[in-house]
Amino acid sequence: MDFKAVLTDALASASGLEAQDIGPMIETPANPELGDLALPCFKLAKTFRKAPALIAAELKEKLGYVEGFSRIEAVGGYLNFFTDKSAFARTVISRVLTQGDKYGSSDEGAGRNVCVEYSSINIAKPFGIHHITTTVLGNSLKRIYDHLGFHTISINHLGDWGTQFGKMIVAYNLWGDREKIENGNSMRELVALYVKFHEEAEKHPELNDEARAAFHRIEMHEPADWALFQWFKDVTLKDVAKVYDLLGITFDSYAGESFYEDKMPAIIKELEDKGISKVDKGMTIVDLSEYDMPPCIILKSDGSTIYATRDIAAAKYRKETYDFYKSLYVVAYQQNLHFRQFFKVLELMGYEWAKDCVHVNFGMISMEDMTFSTRKGNAIYLEDVLNTAIEKTLHIIEEKSPNLENKEEVARQVGVGALVFSVLYNNRIKDYTFSWDKSLNFDGETGPYAQYTYARSCSVLRKAAEADKGGACAAAIDYSVLSDDASAALLRAIDTLPEAIRAAAEKYEPYLISRKVIEICSAFNKFYYDNRIMDDDAAVRAARVALTKAAGIAIRVGLFLVGLEAPERM
Ligand code: ARG
Repeated sequence: MDFKAVLTDALASASGLEAQDIGPMIETPANPELGDLALPCFKLAKTFRKAPALIAAELKEKLGYVEGFSRIEAVGGYLNFFTDKSAFARTVISRVLTQGDKYGSSDEGAGRNVCVEYSSINIAKPFGIHHITTTVLGNSLKRIYDHLGFHTISINHLGDWGTQFGKMIVAYNLWGDREKIENGNSMRELVALYVKFHEEAEKHPELNDEARAAFHRIEMHEPADWALFQWFKDVTLKDVAKVYDLLGITFDSYAGESFYEDKMPAIIKELEDKGISKVDKGMTIVDLSEYDMPPCIILKSDGSTIYATRDIAAAKYRKETYDFYKSLYVVAYQQNLHFRQFFKVLELMGYEWAKDCVHVNFGMISMEDMTFSTRKGNAIYLEDVLNTAIEKTLHIIEEKSPNLENKEEVARQVGVGALVFSVLYNNRIKDYTFSWDKSLNFDGETGPYAQYTYARSCSVLRKAAEADKGGACAAAIDYSVLSDDASAALLRAIDTLPEAIRAAAEKYEPYLISRKVIEICSAFNKFYYDNRIMDDDAAVRAARVALTKAAGIAIRVGLFLVGLEAPERM
């Protein structure tokens, strides 16, 4: 039973308004004492030219009894609706059990493509802790949009173009060790070469000229240099795959900046032909002073393209290739201006789809404890942080559950999950300080707490299956036993997960889901302590077991959408 739909119809006939108008006015009050659903009647004051309190009273009168609701109250301009507890329990539980891992999914995105660009690492630069937010936020958004029926295309817009690759060629030819790079931590070896180049170039400035010449050879696709350039990318991607594997992240495309190099001339010509760009002090720019922004540089005075030029080409390519409904760029807020500029340029080019390009920005992350493994270059590698998380978790598990079978595997799921969950537990724009103690706390608002709660629900179900081998499992469920406060709060938390998923997609805020997961978990734990799940009465037991199962599914779905695995034993 869809309570909202039933209520919408009843309210439409009582008010004489269209269902499509009154439906969206129905809210879920934050405080359950104000009903499971509510209609704020001040929204109707204009239409009916009456005081909200009077409208509420009259509507209550006209509604009389509404199926599925046990009580309707008119209070202070609000109409509050209380669902019939048994009917509500039956509805929520059967919905979750029928949908399983598809709980909260929909087909509203069917036939529409969404590009989600995230991670977007730079070749021969560290894949550091500062990249974690774009990586996990993007992955979560991809999963959320997939869940809502959209077809997503995940893109890692590699930073793989620019004069630094000339430097890399020079450095490699002088000091590189192929074997060491291929068999070790390739990215770190390449970063070390890059650092060495800068040290040496201080003393021997002519190295910079050599680097420029080398980059020119890459631009000309000189076979030896081009091969080396590709190899830098290949070994880096192979190296970072370790991090993506730990996180369970994949990409549909690694088309980075270099991919757009041959698409530059057409963009430059188009900007010229449309009269948008102009030459200023030898540079080709798009003047944006009218929009209170500095000019967007298209070509530097030496004729080379820049980051923004490639982004313009990439946006156009994505539209042509994927015909996106939306194109998301999960990139730190430091680049706010860059995105505003090039989105504006797209708009000036006459692309109405520029409005569908969204910069999903986010704040900075810092580590509370910087002391571990800050190797040369001050970079904290994400791989090190993940491995530290796994190690620390393994210690905790060894203490807490020494008999657990697959400790290493669980330590990976929980350690990585702790990190991911803590990054996605707050509004994305807030700067964030990561703390090991907080993130790994099994009793806090953390990934491990949610995973632990899920594992607890699995253990309840295992015990129930064991106890009910005789077949009592099949007992008819007595939903009326789920009307105590703890059960009702749990049902309500589970029931509002789909709303949280939709809101997360709309606002690009996975934390709305992680918070809901924690709400479900604490409600489940309260339910677990307040009630005897393995009650002697088979119908009572069946009801509580069913609710446990529904809670577990909801937690697992929520965890998956923010990017966490859910081990069944911990
Ligand atoms: N590689 C860039 C960096 O690490 C981020 C790329 C962002 N995406 C884009 N389309 N500009 O800063």
